[in-house]
Amino acid sequence: MRTFASLFFAALALTAFTAVSQTPAAPQAPLAPPQVLVAQTPPMGWNSWNYFAGKVTDKNIRDSADQLVATGMKDAGYVYVNIDDTWEGERDASGVLHTNAKFPDMKALADYVHSKGLKIGIYSSPGPKTCGGYAGSLGHEEQDAQLYASWGIDYLKYDLCSFIGDVLEKRAPNDKAEQMRIMIAAYDKMNKALKATGRPIVFSFCQYGWDAVWEWAPSVGGNLWRSTGDITPDWDRIYAIVSQQEGLEAYAGPGHWNDPDMLEVGNGKLSLAENRTHFSMWAMLAAPLLAGNDLPNMKPEIKAILTNRDVIAIDQDRLGKQGARVYSDGEVDVWARHLAGGALAIAVVNAGSDRYATHPFHLNLRKLGLAGQQTAKDLWTGKTMELTEKMPLELASHDVLLVRVDAPKTAK
Ligand code: GLA
Repeated sequence: MRTFASLFFAALALTAFTAVSQTPAAPQAPLAPPQVLVAQTPPMGWNSWNYFAGKVTDKNIRDSADQLVATGMKDAGYVYVNIDDTWEGERDASGVLHTNAKFPDMKALADYVHSKGLKIGIYSSPGPKTCGGYAGSLGHEEQDAQLYASWGIDYLKYDLCSFIGDVLEKRAPNDKAEQMRIMIAAYDKMNKALKATGRPIVFSFCQYGWDAVWEWAPSVGGNLWRSTGDITPDWDRIYAIVSQQEGLEAYAGPGHWNDPDMLEVGNGKLSLAENRTHFSMWAMLAAPLLAGNDLPNMKPEIKAILTNRDVIAIDQDRLGKQGARVYSDGEVDVWARHLAGGALAIAVVNAGSDRYATHPFHLNLRKLGLAGQQTAKDLWTGKTMELTEKMPLELASHDVLLVRVDAPKTAK
């Protein structure tokens, strides 16, 4: 932004200089406003749903914003404070949507979040109702987009919900191809309405990974799209989601990301190993990092996971190349992610419950395209280690080895 601003003013100064030094002045084309690109790396922040669900209030949002700052999460990159479903009230006679009693003044709340140097996100549906049964945007897209912009909203999650039953199934019963076209048009409608506000707003699609959304979402303004159904704070669900991401790596890149859903780190009964693996794999997948835990009561070990700068750097790598599963052996999966500057991140996940067939696990460097000993950094211990061909690795159940190799020696 600063660069754009200085270029803008330099161009203005030049225009003024040209005007006094030459006669007659050539007509100048007005300068186009600088385009602000959003989501050049996967969005990072916090969202209310995974912990508060329908109970979220204005106070929870303020407290969470405060905590992002106090815990150092903001400094680590978490900037979006996203209100999920259940903030919506009724529409008035002119169709303007009002907040419900839990959110007395959305503009004041947005100002508060902005005053902390953070950004604010909101939630709606292309259907008449959200998943929680609150008012959706159907027939009010432009009005809602203008309302969000007037509040200062920076991010919109747009959740299919009632659009399925109330629009798709009514307008095109039993015609899946037509339903898909109608759905894409609905996302594009809000895309155009958001663009028309002139405000940079991250546009997050939530339609559960249907109809190969990764193929068409970027063409209708999607900066991220859910690539799965809902996450829950259970190892089995998290592992299933990770496995479903295989093959989607081709679709991610700066400005457009697969979204395996928001983080459950610190929620439910996930063990520390499971929290670590969950966070590591979201980083390998170049996934949005939207924490979803109770920030005011966050335990130090959870904060340590969420603020691990080395792991965040994998997620936020500027090359924007999503990692891929290279091979599995027994119940152990090996993923790799290519990073800027030729570096490589490797994640070895033990998905076995108690014992596993490949104990100890022998890492196959050749399958990763590597030749000979490799100097790596273990991103969870912070220690340097040497990776050697077929070295035995002892990984506890549901734990991960996540390393970064800055100068990989590759096979010729
Ligand atoms: C859907 C979404 C969730 C959440 C809820 C809110 O289930 O997938 O992420 O937004 O709706 O009702």
